[in-house]
Amino acid sequence: MQTILITGGAGFIGRHLSRAALAANCKVVVFDNLSPQIHGEDPSFEAPAGAIFIRGDITARTELEAALDGIDTVVHLAAETGTGQSMYEIDRYYRVNVQGTALLFDILANRPHSVANVVLASSRSVYGEGAYLCRTCAPEGVRRFPPTRGPEQLKAHRWTAPCPVCGGRLEPTATREDDALAPASIYAATKLAQEDLVRVACTALGIGHSILRFQNVFGEGQSLSNPYTGILSIFSTRIRLGLPLPIFEDGEESRDFVHVEDVVAAVLRCAERPLQDGVTLNVGRGEAASIMHVAQLLCRIMGSNTEPHVTGEYRLGDIRHNFANIEQLENITGLRPAISLEEGMRRFCNWVDTQPIPADLLEKANAELRARKLMA
Ligand SMILES: NC(=O)c1ccc[n+]([C@@H]2O[C@H](COP(=O)([O-])OP(=O)(O)OC[C@H]3O[C@@H](n4cnc5c(N)ncnc54)[C@H](O)[C@@H]3O)[C@@H](O)[C@H]2O)c1
Repeated sequence: MQTILITGGAGFIGRHLSRAALAANCKVVVFDNLSPQIHGEDPSFEAPAGAIFIRGDITARTELEAALDGIDTVVHLAAETGTGQSMYEIDRYYRVNVQGTALLFDILANRPHSVANVVLASSRSVYGEGAYLCRTCAPEGVRRFPPTRGPEQLKAHRWTAPCPVCGGRLEPTATREDDALAPASIYAATKLAQEDLVRVACTALGIGHSILRFQNVFGEGQSLSNPYTGILSIFSTRIRLGLPLPIFEDGEESRDFVHVEDVVAAVLRCAERPLQDGVTLNVGRGEAASIMHVAQLLCRIMGSNTEPHVTGEYRLGDIRHNFANIEQLENITGLRPAISLEEGMRRFCNWVDTQPIPADLLEKANAELRARKLMA
C-alpha cells in the first residue's frame, strides 16, 4: 500500500482524487492551506474518512518538510489558478506556483526522503494558442502555431490569428504534447515553470514523474464562489440569480471540457505507476466545445430561459481555441475519457441544485481587470 501526499488536496480535483485514492487502497495525506479565495474567510475542511489532513502552506519549509515524512508519491495540485487574476497578482502567482514547487524539490534534494514518484497538475495553458492547420499553405493542412493575441488584434476584434507564414485562414486542430509551448498568461508561465522544475529535478534526483496537462476540468464540487476561474460555476450562479450571461469575444472561442472523474482516473494511474523516464500527457476529452454552445447547454439543462449574449469584450491572456490530442494518454495509461460533455454537465447541475446560491462576483472580477486595462 503506498502513501500519497496530495498538495492542494482540499481543492476541487484534490477532493475527488483523495476519495479515489482511498478507494484504491492508498494511504492519503492531504496538504492544503485552505486558501480564503477558494474556501472562504472562515474555512473548514473535513478530510475523507481514512485520510490525514495537514493544514500547511506550500511555500512554508517546515510545514512541507513534516508533510513529506513517509511519502511514496507526491501529487502536486496546490496552486493559484485564475488566468485573469494572474495578470496583476503576479508576485502571488509566482510565489505559490513556482517557489512552492521549487521548495518541494529543495527539500527532496537536501533531506533523506522516500518519494519515488511525482505527478504534476499542469495545464493546457502552457501551449498558449495551441495548434492550427493552414490549408492555404498546403491543401492537406500544415501545422501552425500563431503567436499570442496582442491588445491591438483583440481591440480590432480579429479573434482568430491568421497563418503566421502566409496570412491565410487557420482552422483549430488537436494540440499534441510535442507542439510549441507559448504561455499567454502569467498563470500559464508559472505552470510551464513548474513543468521544468519537475522534469529537471526529478531526473537529477532519480524520481519518476508524470506531467499532466489538464484541459478545462469541471464537475461536482468545483468552487462556486471563486469568481476568477470556472466558467460553469460563474454561469450556473448567474442563471440561478436570473442574471444575464455575458459571453466574451463572439462566443465561438472554444475549450476542451473534461469531467473531473476522467481526470482523476488519469492522475491515479500515473500515481500508481511511477514512470522513471518521465512522461508528459494531455488530459482532456479531445473535443472542442464553443463557449456559446456550453452556455446554451447549461441553460437548457438548468431549465432556464436565459439567452446567453455575446458582448464583444475580451481579456488579455485568454486564448482563442485549444483542444487536446489524447492519443498519448490512451497509449500510455490505457484510459479513454468516459463522460460526455452533456452527461458531465447534468451531473454538475444536479450537484449545483443541492448547493446554496453564492453571491455573483463576476462584475467585481471584471472590474478589477478593466481597471488595469486587461479587459475591454
Ligand atoms: N480545474 C481546472 O480546470 C484545471 C485545469 C488545468 C490545470 N489545473 C491545475 O490543477 C490543480 C488543481 O486545480 P483545482 O481546480 O482543484 O483548483 P482549486 O483551487 O479547487 O484547488 C487548489 C487547492 O490548492 C490550495 N492552495 C492554494 N494555495 C496554496 C498554498 N500556498 N499552499 C497550500 N495549498 C494551497 C487551495 O486552498 C485549494 O484547496 C492546480 O494546480 C491547477 O493549476 C486545473
